[in-house]
Amino acid sequence: MTEPLVDRPSDPAARPRTPVDLADPARYQHGIPHEAFAELRATPGLAWNDNGSFWAVTRHAAVVEVSRDPETWSSAVGHIQIYDIDADALDARASMIDMDPPIHTRLRRLVSSAFTPRHVQDYRAAIRRRVVDRLDALEAAGGGDWVDLVAKPIPIGVICDLMGVPADDHDLMIELSDHLVAGTSSEPLDPGAYGNTTELRLLPFNSPAAHGLNQYALDLGERRRREPADDLVTKLIQAEVENEAGVRERLTDDEFANFFRLMIFAGNETTRSAMGHLARHLIEFPDQFERVRADRSLLASAAEEVVRYSSPILYFRRTATRDAVLDGTPVAAGEKVVMWYAAANFDEAVFDDPLRFDVARPTLPPNVAFGGGGAHFCLGASLARLELVELIDEWLDRGLRLEPTAEPVVVDSNFVNGLEHVEVQIS
Ligand code: HEM
Repeated sequence: MTEPLVDRPSDPAARPRTPVDLADPARYQHGIPHEAFAELRATPGLAWNDNGSFWAVTRHAAVVEVSRDPETWSSAVGHIQIYDIDADALDARASMIDMDPPIHTRLRRLVSSAFTPRHVQDYRAAIRRRVVDRLDALEAAGGGDWVDLVAKPIPIGVICDLMGVPADDHDLMIELSDHLVAGTSSEPLDPGAYGNTTELRLLPFNSPAAHGLNQYALDLGERRRREPADDLVTKLIQAEVENEAGVRERLTDDEFANFFRLMIFAGNETTRSAMGHLARHLIEFPDQFERVRADRSLLASAAEEVVRYSSPILYFRRTATRDAVLDGTPVAAGEKVVMWYAAANFDEAVFDDPLRFDVARPTLPPNVAFGGGGAHFCLGASLARLELVELIDEWLDRGLRLEPTAEPVVVDSNFVNGLEHVEVQIS
């Protein structure tokens, strides 16, 4: 833990404040607010954001410190998003991402072997086929909405195949996970959508789409109970996990549905955002991609740069379980710290000329788009990297160029840096 800054005031009213409201979704309508984040990084210590009442963590080292110490910075206490929710709501929506070790570790173990860097190589050919199919469609149309034609279908197809969701339902999974994020925007959905009758406060992202995903999960689980298959849904319904009393038990319906929802959302929305931003990078930095075309050994660092530069998840929150000092700032037990990955990924102390898009940028120390390491580090990082590498590689093989035909439309959210539409034509 770092030493406190000597002049750090303990009086809450005298705390240094963030220069802008970081919780306001409108702040992200034009992309990552680099100026505000740079100002925060340049000022020693943490700053307090009044709206949402949290400490803003913007330096790379502090994000890594929080991520790797779940005993002090809990995912289970409070909530992992900025807004607070009641204890019963936390309980109802809990999946491994909102849990601390040791129970988190036991749940993660159920699926982790499918996502190791070695194991994901088994999916390479299937991923390439999806990429080829989608780029064929884009090329045949001479362009169109890159998000609809390329960025949406590839990641959802990949994660649905792993989970065992039939191809006919992939569009429904896209729709439900899109509507999930709508819960973090300024204009949430109709509470009764998807036949929802549950109080919104009990649903993830306060969104009725979470009800839709949970119902779908339970139906699919039921089908797999009758007809097991070689997929993760079958694995989850058959799995036994040791509870706090040391007894091995099957997942309850709620635990299973929450697990399913996490996998679909996490495997889909994030990679889609990175692929959406990739189109913008291909347009804005063609010379960089020429370097990769000439030297394919740069594919991995190029994919990593796409992820750093787009930072698809803007933040995750933790809650202090005890009084602690972070980045020189005393943080009281119960206070929220919000790790702005989108700020830490441009930390001048770690990344040389951070606003430069550089396909050959060293990948160590790693950026924190997949988290700062530790227990919750993105389970699907190797899979997402592989999907991006295959997409860039196939794109370069085709020797095509993209041109924008309209301004990209950004997802209205303070949580994801997503793109609704990126209209392009091929030249
Ligand atoms: C570019 C794409 C992706 C980005 C930027 C991303 C980002 C993240 C981040 C920031 C976290 C939280 C890390 C932390 O709290 O320390 C996370 C967790 C997670 N991600 Fe990803 N992710 C991506 C793709 C995927 C994919 C393809 C999957 C598919 C399985 C996935 C599954 C998960 C899961 C299950 C967790 C929770 C892990 C846990 O709590 O132990 N992600 N991801």
